[in-house]
Amino acid sequence: MAKVAILGFGVVGSGVAEVLRENSALIKNKLHTDLELKYILDVKDFPGNPFQEFVIHDFTTIERDLEVEVVAETIGGTGIAKEFTKRAICAGKSVITSNKELVAEHGCELMGLAQKHGVSYLYEASVGGGIPVIRPMKRCLAANEITEVRGILNGTTNYILTRMIRSGISFREALEEAQANGYAEKDPTADVEGLDACRKTCILAALAFGRQIHPNQVPTEGITRVTLADVAYAASRDYKIKLLGRAVRGEDGSVRAFVAPHLIPGSNPLSAVEDVFNAISVKGNAVGDVMFYGRGAGKLPTASAVVADMMEAVVYRDRPKYLDWEEGGPDTVVSPDDIPGFWYVRGQTDIDVFRAALGDVLPLANSGAPAGESAVLTPAMPRPELEARLSSVELSALFRVLGD
Ligand code: HSE
Repeated sequence: MAKVAILGFGVVGSGVAEVLRENSALIKNKLHTDLELKYILDVKDFPGNPFQEFVIHDFTTIERDLEVEVVAETIGGTGIAKEFTKRAICAGKSVITSNKELVAEHGCELMGLAQKHGVSYLYEASVGGGIPVIRPMKRCLAANEITEVRGILNGTTNYILTRMIRSGISFREALEEAQANGYAEKDPTADVEGLDACRKTCILAALAFGRQIHPNQVPTEGITRVTLADVAYAASRDYKIKLLGRAVRGEDGSVRAFVAPHLIPGSNPLSAVEDVFNAISVKGNAVGDVMFYGRGAGKLPTASAVVADMMEAVVYRDRPKYLDWEEGGPDTVVSPDDIPGFWYVRGQTDIDVFRAALGDVLPLANSGAPAGESAVLTPAMPRPELEARLSSVELSALFRVLGD
C-alpha cells in the first residue's frame, strides 16, 4: 500500500483524485499495491464534493504523516508550491508536479534536493498535459544527441488560433471558450503572451541539452498581435499561424530558445494540430524526427500524467532517478536573431516596395484587405538584416515562417 496526498484541489488536483478513484483497480493491478488517497490540501472546503472527507488545511499534517509516500503538487506558481515541495522532499516523500513554472525556474534545485533525500521529483505533467514526452525523451531517446525540439505547447492559444482560423470568431470569444473548458491558466495572460509556452520550452530545452534554461533567457512573443487578416493572408498559400516554442542546438553547442507565432506550411504535420491539442517534435541525430501528440491541457489528460508519475515514484522507491539537467548560466543560451529565417511581413505598402527591399518575395492575398496593404513571405535572412532592409516601411505584422 502506498498512501498519497494532493496539494491543491483545482482543475488538475480534482482530476488526480478522480483518476485515482476511477482507475484504482487497474492501478493496483499494475503496481501490485494500492495507491490510496489520504489527504487533499486546499485553503477551501468543498461541501458536497465526493472527496470532501479528504480535505485538510494544514500542510504539517501531510509533512509529519510517515504513511504518506507520494505528494502531487498541483498548486502552481513558485511561492507556497515551492515551499511545500521542499518540505515534502525533506520529509522523505516523492513529489510529482504539473507545475511548469516551478520546474522551469527551480527544477535543478528541486531535483538536487530530491537526490539528497533519496526520493523522486517527477514532472511529466508539466509539459504537454497528458502527452508522454518527458520520460520518452529521457529514456527512449537517450542514445541521441538532440538537435532541436519544437512544439505547439499551449492548448489555450492553439484553441484560440484554431477558432480564429476555422470559424473566424474573435480572439476574445475564443479565449472565453478556452477558459470555460478549463484549459487556460488562472491568469490567461500567461497563455496568450506566451509565458506558459516559454516555461515548457525551458523544460524541454533543459532536458534536451542538459542545462537549466530560465524563462527570462528565452525571447517570448504571444499571440495577441495575430489578427484575422494575418490568418487570411497565411491561408492564401496554405499556411496556418501557430504559437511555437523552439530550442535549437548549434553545431558549436550553443543553444537558441524562443517562443513566437509562426506561419506553418500545410505540408508540415504541426499545421494539422488543432484545438487544445499539443504536439512536440524532437530531432535526434540517430532517430531523425519524432513527434508526440495529444491533449495538452485539461483536467483528466493532465491528471493522467500526474498519476502515472505517482506510480513511477512507487515503482522506483528504492532506486529513484535523479538529476535530469545541471545548473545553467547567463551564457547557456544565445539570441536566435543571428541565424537566417524566413519571415511573414504585412504593411501599408505596395508589393513592389517589399520586392525592391527584400528580393524574391512570395506575395500573399486577402480579399478583405484595406486598400494599399500587402503581405509577403520573405527569402531567408537574419532578423536584424530584415529590419534594416525594411526600415522605411511601417510594418503591421512580422512573424516567423517555419522553413522545414
Ligand atoms: N494553460 C495551459 C495550456 C494548461 O493552455 O496549455 C496546460 O499547461
